[in-house]
Amino acid sequence: MPFTTRLASFADPDDAAAVHEVRRVVFIEEQKVPESLEIDGLDAECVHALAFDEAGEPIGTARLMPHGRIGRVAVLASWRKRGVGAAMMRILLEEADRRGFEEIELHAQTWTIGFYETLGFKVAGEEFLEAEIPHRRMVRRRGISRD
Ligand SMILES: CC(C)(COP(=O)(O)OP(=O)(O)OC[C@H]1O[C@@H](n2cnc3c(N)ncnc32)[C@H](O)[C@@H]1OP(=O)(O)O)[C@@H](O)C(=O)NCCC(=O)NCCS
Repeated sequence: MPFTTRLASFADPDDAAAVHEVRRVVFIEEQKVPESLEIDGLDAECVHALAFDEAGEPIGTARLMPHGRIGRVAVLASWRKRGVGAAMMRILLEEADRRGFEEIELHAQTWTIGFYETLGFKVAGEEFLEAEIPHRRMVRRRGISRD
């Protein structure tokens, strides 16, 4: 099934609502992350990616923070493993290149390391807990694609 992706901003209330809706389903409902951790007040400073189905309903989101960290990467369960996550990551990585970051980092839930490796990220550091979920720090040098 086809989908589209684009950059988004919290300056647009419809985009902000779409981001929150996907993250509520994936992080708060599915992964049981407390709402107080999910909504951290940093979204207005970030550039976001959104993915939509053919009907225009949001199916995925991710964000790039001003200091070069990507996070809050989420795809609705029914849309996973169809390239939605990778497509959103690619437009955020292009944006990161435009902004001149030499290195992009993220905190990957350990079970998703393989996903980020397909996009050129490498594990950098030991496992740690965030929202009680095991994570590893990963980094990607500018312009690097998958090995
Ligand atoms: C992680 C997540 C964003 C991946 O999104 P997705 O749309 O399913 O990923 P894609 O279909 O674009 O996958 C891209 C590549 O990564 C691989 N991949 C996807 N999920 C993977 C996983 N959990 N482990 C290993 N590889 C994975 C795919 O097989 C694909 O490989 P290919 O290019 O060789 O075909 C999605 O599973 C998700 O939203 N999970 C719940 C929220 C979450 O945990 N987010 C991460 C927070 S760090």
